[in-house]
Amino acid sequence: MEIGRRNGAEMKILAIETSCDETAIAIVEATGDEKSAEFTILGNGLISQIAIHQEYGGVFPALAKREHAKNLVPILEAALAEAELLREDTQSIANETREDIVKLLEREPGLSDAFLEFISESEIPDIDAIAVTAGPGLEPALWVGINFAKALSIVWNKPVVAVNHMEGHILSALAEKGRESIFIKDVAMPVLALLISGGHTELVLMKEWLSYELVGQTRDDAVGEAFDKVARMLGLPYPGGPEISRFAEEARAMNETNPYALPRPMIDSGTGDFSFAGLKTAVLYLLKNNPNVDETQKKHIAHEFENAAADVLWKKSADAVEQTGAQTLVIGGGVSANKHIRRVFETKMKEKYPEVSLRIPSPELTTDNAVMIALAGFYRASRKEFANLETLKADGNLSLA
Ligand code: KG4
Ligand code: ZN
Repeated sequence: MEIGRRNGAEMKILAIETSCDETAIAIVEATGDEKSAEFTILGNGLISQIAIHQEYGGVFPALAKREHAKNLVPILEAALAEAELLREDTQSIANETREDIVKLLEREPGLSDAFLEFISESEIPDIDAIAVTAGPGLEPALWVGINFAKALSIVWNKPVVAVNHMEGHILSALAEKGRESIFIKDVAMPVLALLISGGHTELVLMKEWLSYELVGQTRDDAVGEAFDKVARMLGLPYPGGPEISRFAEEARAMNETNPYALPRPMIDSGTGDFSFAGLKTAVLYLLKNNPNVDETQKKHIAHEFENAAADVLWKKSADAVEQTGAQTLVIGGGVSANKHIRRVFETKMKEKYPEVSLRIPSPELTTDNAVMIALAGFYRASRKEFANLETLKADGNLSLA
């Protein structure tokens, strides 16, 4: 198998992300090392399933899996074309290989046919490794990406790197945008990461590059889950985060006194642990006691809920900065797209810890994408941490620490 990088310096990674409701493939060229790396996005394809899951008010795993299977080949083709790595050519595929692929993809109806057709008509692209999200996430969804990566590895003879989705979120938060590429350099250690998404709420410490310690995590709901559930109670569509944010911003612009008060669970617990179930339940009771809330009142509730979530996230992060002596604070995961949370962290960090560098991903890298998987894939491939195809599996609960 072809392993490693050309000229000891540059590496092209093809990355696949299917952990939740986005099907994404990116091709990224990387140079440098763990101290200083530069990434150029050559191709980036993404299909969001949000509209499909909206009907169910959340992500429906069987549907996510089916959509990933349907979308992977077209996205691969589009990403390769954008990267100018797509060349028509007739490839003969040995019968034995063909059978292996059919078997590997047998649980994804239609995928092996589309896959074999595409492979037999295009040249092996000039890439060095295939990175794929192995977890955490929805297992049926993760498996589609993993089996697809295995199939590509077999026909193209390229190594596979298994990536932890949360490491992708951390690294994309550390990345700084240049004019034509993105950089990860001058990272002051230790790095404290606040990871906030639909499935996760945790504080993780990176004392050494790519090695993690858990500082604290939610004892019940993830913060993104609370945003989604509260949105639903207010009659807003999935995903709820952006909707709550929109309502809350409108309430702020009204500049009225907010008549509602919600709790800030565990804010002074002195630990890095969180709880968001109580906050969600408080909204539920508030709505039970006020069944006829109008649009304006709903905006006030969204506003107070967002303030409560931001207050808790900030206080816990500030405590952890003090306790760990972190020199860099990063916020990653879908909820870090939230305007108010970004504002709170930007203002308070300047005020309280001006010496600590705050890094928040650029908006297009906050929610799930494959570029972040390529970033993690690059570092793991540089360490030659390649996966064994026989044992590589999806792990819905894969943890960093
Ligand atoms: O990281 P992500 O795209 O997927 C997971 O790995 O879970 O995060 C999705 C979560 C959803 O709960 C969504 O409501 C939330 O991120 N989210 C937001 C915002 N945009 C997305 N939450 C609050 N404010 C936003 N602007
Ligand atoms: Zn995510």
